[in-house]
Parts: sequence; structure tokens; C-alpha cells
Amino acid sequence: MQNRMMVTGAGSGLGREIALRWAREGWQLALSDVNEAGLAETLKMVRDAGGDGFTQRCDVRDYSQLTALAQACESKLGGIDVVVNNAGVASGGFFEELSLEDWDWQIAINLMGVVKGCKAFLPLVQKSQGKIINIASMAALMQAPGMSNYNVAKAGVVALSESLLVELKQQEVGIHVVCPSFFQTNLMDSYRGPTPNMKAQISKLLEASPISAADIADYIYRQVDEGVFMILPHDEGRAAWKIKQQNPQAIYDEMALLAEKKRSKRKT
Ligand SMILES: NC(=O)c1ccc[n+]([C@@H]2O[C@H](COP(=O)([O-])OP(=O)(O)OC[C@H]3O[C@@H](n4cnc5c(N)ncnc54)[C@H](O)[C@@H]3O)[C@@H](O)[C@H]2O)c1
Repeated sequence: MQNRMMVTGAGSGLGREIALRWAREGWQLALSDVNEAGLAETLKMVRDAGGDGFTQRCDVRDYSQLTALAQACESKLGGIDVVVNNAGVASGGFFEELSLEDWDWQIAINLMGVVKGCKAFLPLVQKSQGKIINIASMAALMQAPGMSNYNVAKAGVVALSESLLVELKQQEVGIHVVCPSFFQTNLMDSYRGPTPNMKAQISKLLEASPISAADIADYIYRQVDEGVFMILPHDEGRAAWKIKQQNPQAIYDEMALLAEKKRSKRKT
């Protein structure tokens, strides 16, 4: 029976809601984050929801902290069945304004954090014939203007997931990648970028989401159960992806208009 899950970035937002969704099925949760107060709150909520588990501080930039977490999963839970690489940060700014430090910071967390999570936990999921769920974004598929470093990091997460999907098929390790559009969480607390009013523009998009982090966690739960590889929780995200596949130029034209709009707003 599979009933042990590890979640990075579990102290807030989608990571917390994913932990709670599986906790309601009675799962054991290994909860990790750099936010220890958030983790303690999540563990309490997990127990109230019918699950149990433990917390461990883990910065996904540090491979030794991820391998230590994998060891803790082995000693405390006897292994792991599902790994959720969810921890992430927000960034924005036009390419000409983003510094190379902005790029390094974004790639180190949102892309290399997932690479390192997969590498540290692969031996455990191979042993349990378990699953890896990587949290990417619609940004990986649509490349919205004014967030190129985030787009590249998330596109990398999709490419990594596609690579693992084919490489690990024979070993019966399940791979899933999730591409949500914007939704309300604490993500903008981590925002880094050269243009402060772009933060306000992105915050408005998060607030406008028709679905919550809990809705998305529930959608992920059901899609993983059905064995779906690429999970697109928002209706409008699924529609946009269909158009992009059939007529990419239509999306590029729309994004170019959006870029001009964002540029003019930035000046005001
Ligand atoms: N909210 C959105 O609109 C949206 C849309 C698409 C994808 N996502 C993705 O969903 C995932 C979860 O984000 P969220 O919206 O729940 O935001 P959130 O800020 O509420 O949660 C992210 C968590 O990751 C943790 N974290 C940040 N850096 C870390 C690090 N180096 N090591 C370990 N933990 C770290 C934070 O402390 C936080 O608890 C992210 O990968 C994000 O990119 C979010």
C-alpha cells in the first residue's frame, strides 16, 4: 500500500493544500520548507485532517539538506511513495532589466531545486515504484512577457519531467507535472524583480483566479489517480494550451500585445 508523501514548500499555499488533500486519505507526510512556523501550522492541520507525519527544515537549493531529508523519510517512515517538488518563488521584470543575479536566484530555486529534489529522492521512489509530482506553471507553456527567468525555470521543470517520464517508464516510477495559471497564495511575498509596479500587476492576477489552492490540490489528487502526466488545473489554461499547440503564432501575437500593455503601465 502506498501512503507516504514528501512535500517541499509545505509551509504555505499549494504545498500545504496538497499535504492536506493526501492527509484526508490518512497518508503520512514528510513536510519540508524554509519556513518553520508555516511547517508547524501545516503539521497541525494535517493531523486534524486525519494524517500524520513530521517536519524538517530544508532549503531546496542545498542538495545535502535534501539527501538528509530523504534519509529522515527512510528512518521515520520506512521510505517514500510520492515526492512533490513544489517549493518556489516569484519573479518579474523585462529581460533587459533583469540582472544575472536575478537569473541565478530564480533558476537555483525553481529549476535546480526540482532537479535536486528528483535526484535526492529517486532511489526511494524507485524502491517503492512510487511517483514524482513536479509543480511547474502555465508560464512554462505560455511564456508571458515580463517574467523570462520564471518562464525559463518552469519550462525546465516541464522538460525535466518529460525526460524522467520516458527514462523511468520501464521502472514503473510515475511522473506528473502540474501547470497551474495564477492562483491566490503567499507567493508574492517571495517576489524579486527590478520593477516594483510589476509586482502589483502580478498580484492582481493571483487575486483574480477563479479557483483556490485547495481546488488545485484536489484536481491534482484526481488527475494523479487517473495517471495523467501533464496536469492543467485551470479551464483557461487548458484552452490556451490547445490554441498554442494548434497555432502558436496566435499566442505569440497575444503575448506581444500584453508586453506592450505591461511596458506602458510600468511607466505610469
Ligand atoms: N500562486 C500561483 O499563482 C502559482 C502559479 C503557478 C505555479 N505556482 C507554483 O506553485 C508552487 C507553490 O507556490 P505557492 O503559490 O503555493 O506559493 P507560497 O509562497 O504560498 O508557497 C511556496 C513555499 O515555498 C517555500 N520556499 C521558497 N523558497 C524555498 C527554498 N529555497 N527551499 C524550500 N522552500 C522554499 C516558501 O517558504 C513557501 O512556504 C511554486 O513552485 C510556484 O511557482 C504558483
